[in-house]
Amino acid sequence: MKNQLENLKNQIILDINNANNLENLEVVYNNHFSKKGSLSQMMGNLRNLSPEERPAFGKLVNDTKEVVLNHFNLKKEELETAHLNQKLESEKINIHLPGDNLKSGSIHPLNLIIEDISNYFVKNGYEVVTGPEIELDLYNFEMMNLPVGHPAREMQDSFYFDPNVLLRTHTSPVQARTMLAKEGKPLKIICPGKTYRRDEDDQTHSHQFMQIEGLVVGEGISFANLKHTLQDMLNYLFKGEAEMRLRPSYFPFTEPSIEVDVLFTKKDGTKQYIEILGAGMVHPNVLKMGGYDPERFTGFAFGIGVERLAMLRYQIEDIRNFYTNDIRFLKQFTEEF
Ligand code: DAH
Repeated sequence: MKNQLENLKNQIILDINNANNLENLEVVYNNHFSKKGSLSQMMGNLRNLSPEERPAFGKLVNDTKEVVLNHFNLKKEELETAHLNQKLESEKINIHLPGDNLKSGSIHPLNLIIEDISNYFVKNGYEVVTGPEIELDLYNFEMMNLPVGHPAREMQDSFYFDPNVLLRTHTSPVQARTMLAKEGKPLKIICPGKTYRRDEDDQTHSHQFMQIEGLVVGEGISFANLKHTLQDMLNYLFKGEAEMRLRPSYFPFTEPSIEVDVLFTKKDGTKQYIEILGAGMVHPNVLKMGGYDPERFTGFAFGIGVERLAMLRYQIEDIRNFYTNDIRFLKQFTEEF
């Protein structure tokens, strides 16, 4: 039996030595060290010995097991290290390769215009406010002096959710909201934002577009203040003396009302007046509904078409370019400011 054990020991050591990877070593473990392995079987042979002989042989088997197990563990460590090194070698990262370029986005041309105009007004003490795009008929029309049945409602064909709720057709409802919020105190605000009308989309029309509303209310605000503000803003926008032309117009929420044109030099060098905004002195009814006494307070308001300005400034011929978001189109405006 001793011989048998000695042979087994040599066999196990040979098997361990021959294992050249972790999978093979695992097979060796299963063959010899597991519950049904050769060493357990060797222990089972104790049954065939006399009770006196058993302890000595048992100890011998255990000692042998310890020796081969040590050998096994050393081999296992060696193979694991080799495996790790091989893995590290194969997964080596070449830090000298050029990295992936992160593509940075650019500010949308409409937002460039809004930022530019906002900067001008903030510098001049205006507050920038926002309002909801889903608006009540009350603010969008009624409080802007367009009661139900008013013919001018026709000019702003709308998307209604129900008779009282619609997508705002202009940013003017923010005038009403701001006046109510300011509770009779003087105010100077602008409000940039999206607006919606039921238009057929084409080169110059879009059912969704952007406006910047402006409103100033205080004591002694005059048409001269409006004219100066517009001229100064246009000089800022067009970087120099902008040639401005005022034309009488009609808006239900202003009296008098004007449309404002700017003289543009076209690509071919010819000049042309182009309309860029509507404005006027706030109608007494609008002041009254907003909680201001029209005998004491006056105000001016204006609404700028952002797409119109962007198209002129960047010589863009199709309004739909702003919304289809072709990267090649948007990328052109990265370095504007
Ligand atoms: N809300 C007008 C529109 O969308 C634009 C406008 C005109 C706004 C005159 C104003 C204004 O505040 O005074 O057509």
